[in-house]
Amino acid sequence: MIEIVPSILSADFARLAEEIGRVERGGTRMLHLDVMDGHFVPNLTIGPPVVESIRKATRAHLDVHLMIEHPERYAADFVKAGANSVSVHYEASVHLDGTLEMIRKEGAMAGVVLNPATPVSVLEDVLEVADYVLLMSVNPGFGGQKLIPYVLKKVRKLAGMRREKKLALPIEIDGGVHMDNLADVVRAGCDWIVTGSAIFHSTDPEATVREMRKIAAQATAVQV
Ligand code: DX5
Ligand code: ZN
Repeated sequence: MIEIVPSILSADFARLAEEIGRVERGGTRMLHLDVMDGHFVPNLTIGPPVVESIRKATRAHLDVHLMIEHPERYAADFVKAGANSVSVHYEASVHLDGTLEMIRKEGAMAGVVLNPATPVSVLEDVLEVADYVLLMSVNPGFGGQKLIPYVLKKVRKLAGMRREKKLALPIEIDGGVHMDNLADVVRAGCDWIVTGSAIFHSTDPEATVREMRKIAAQATAVQV
């Protein structure tokens, strides 16, 4: 099942509940929350208290993307705050297996994130214990960047590895997805499609989500 997953990074943080209401009326069932520490990426965003407040404002699946150093120190706090899935960067995790296990034990889905330049081959073994994989299609840190085309090759490769291993884990993509490249992204094999500025900077986020869900469903239908 393809999900369009709005990233609130591009929303109006002073009106977050209203913004979330808009995308939910368009059919959103998952929300993407970007956590940045100013070290792993050159930007700062939100922490567990904000996730906790968002949890009270919506019943949607909260998908937390940790762009932080030492994710093992903070991941549990985000699950306790209400996250349904928490992903940690491969590049920031010295003990990735242990961190994934800890997230699962806390009661959330555990995801691995790869930066654009990190090959999917590093997932060869850990794929069996991850609940999903997030492939960054921009260098993490900011919304509104352009999708890096070679990442779609990585998506196809990962979809092949998933097939070979008979695994069903969702492939998530994050960064630079908009109306014009959405169908390509779906056809490459993505299941959870994060998109921030294309939704929240549009004049009607509700209609944009509805339209994106339609495009994604049509693209799946023609998938071979
Ligand atoms: C970037 C974040 C993304 C960002 C995507 O580091 O991880 O989730 O919000 O924004 P767009 O869709 O504008 O590229
Ligand atoms: Zn993200």
